[in-house]
Amino acid sequence: MTTEDFKRVAAEAALAHVKPGMKLGLGTGSTASIFLELLGEKVAAGLDVVGVPTSEATREIAERHNIPLTTLKDDPALDITIDGADEIDPQLRLIKGGGGALLREKIVAFASKRMIVIADASKRVETLGAFPLPIEVVPFGKEPTLRAIRELIGRLGLTGDVVLRRAEDGCPVVTDSGHVILDGHFHRIDDPGRLAASLVAIPGVVEHGLFIGMADIAIIAGHDGVVTLEPEGQAFAE
Ligand code: 5RP
Repeated sequence: MTTEDFKRVAAEAALAHVKPGMKLGLGTGSTASIFLELLGEKVAAGLDVVGVPTSEATREIAERHNIPLTTLKDDPALDITIDGADEIDPQLRLIKGGGGALLREKIVAFASKRMIVIADASKRVETLGAFPLPIEVVPFGKEPTLRAIRELIGRLGLTGDVVLRRAEDGCPVVTDSGHVILDGHFHRIDDPGRLAASLVAIPGVVEHGLFIGMADIAIIAGHDGVVTLEPEGQAFAE
């Protein structure tokens, strides 16, 4: 089986948690897109749900699959968010934002009673940080913000650097909310909680891709089958 197959298996397993009448947070990325495709099939078969997309890309995909959409203004409390992740550690702490949607992803997950993470097994890590940590910042003053983050990583004893994310044309990537993204290449983050708290204290930092204490379940598919992880570190085959 390929990575794509494993993403599909995880997305299929997450569908079992979706019940009629639910209000869903709809994640962003390739794994979340497969979930949207499968959810669209259920909607076509009569499943009655509504979703809040975590990005404009996800909005387009959901519309293509005729998934009814709502907003956090009309539905400020959601039942479940189903989303992918870039890294998942044993405590279900995540790095997200590889697709640049971290801000809306975090707001939508926070508005949800539960967050289900779906991923192929390559996303499981012992220690977060091999994947660059996305940090969404306001364009105004991004240079002093970047400098402050570099000083912070020195103080925290982290190695690596922070760089502005650029698109293929060389222009800075701009998020759906009009911000830019700095990617922190830290290699390993031994204390994600401390880094998360320190980052949000820097003026200009809007959000970062550390999702701590947010995921309730991670459904991970790989060569060993489907494993459902819960924060306590319990694992059982589905
Ligand atoms: C987007 C995200 C995605 O969930 C994350 O990048 C995983 O994406 P994929 O399923 O394509 O590997 O956080 O901002």
